[in-house]
Amino acid sequence: MHDLFPQEKTVADEVHIPIASEADILTARKRGRELAEKLGFWSVEKTFIAMAISELALNILQYAGQGEIVLSIAERGDGTQGILIIARDRGPGITDVEQAMQKGYGLSGAKRLVDEFEIRSEPGKGTTVILKKWVR
Ligand SMILES: Nc1ncnc2c1ncn2[C@@H]1O[C@H](COP(=O)(O)OP(=O)(O)OP(=O)(O)O)[C@@H](O)[C@H]1O
Ligand SMILES: [Mg+2]
Repeated sequence: MHDLFPQEKTVADEVHIPIASEADILTARKRGRELAEKLGFWSVEKTFIAMAISELALNILQYAGQGEIVLSIAERGDGTQGILIIARDRGPGITDVEQAMQKGYGLSGAKRLVDEFEIRSEPGKGTTVILKKWVR
């Protein structure tokens, strides 16, 4: 279980997808789609979720070489469920997150595709990107 959001519970086992090749990106996309389907997201939203996962996984491959995508179900106090996507690596990290958000389309694009977006990065130690999208 992840310990990033002690105030929220995950209601199913997490799926860990190691990312070290392009084939792994496809696997992560597929698992994301499956979980989104299970949660009851509508078609276009399932595509958005797969797109966001692709961007984060591609960044892991490009900038850190390897890492992982962790998928799980988040649940709010009011019972609303959503998908929690965590992309993490132990690569070089991001020194200037604000600048990185403006640099390309991957991070800023992923942010637009979900409801909540957060980057935790320590230069030299790695990067964790956290996305959440709630089922409406
Ligand atoms: N996991 C990561 N580790 C280290 N640096 C990263 C990571 N992800 C993103 N970055 C940095 O943040 C910048 C912006 O990432 P973003 O995905 O938005 O754009 P890009 O990868 O440069 O281009 P695009 O995704 O549009 O092809 C990257 O250029 C890179 O410097
Ligand atoms: Mg990118």
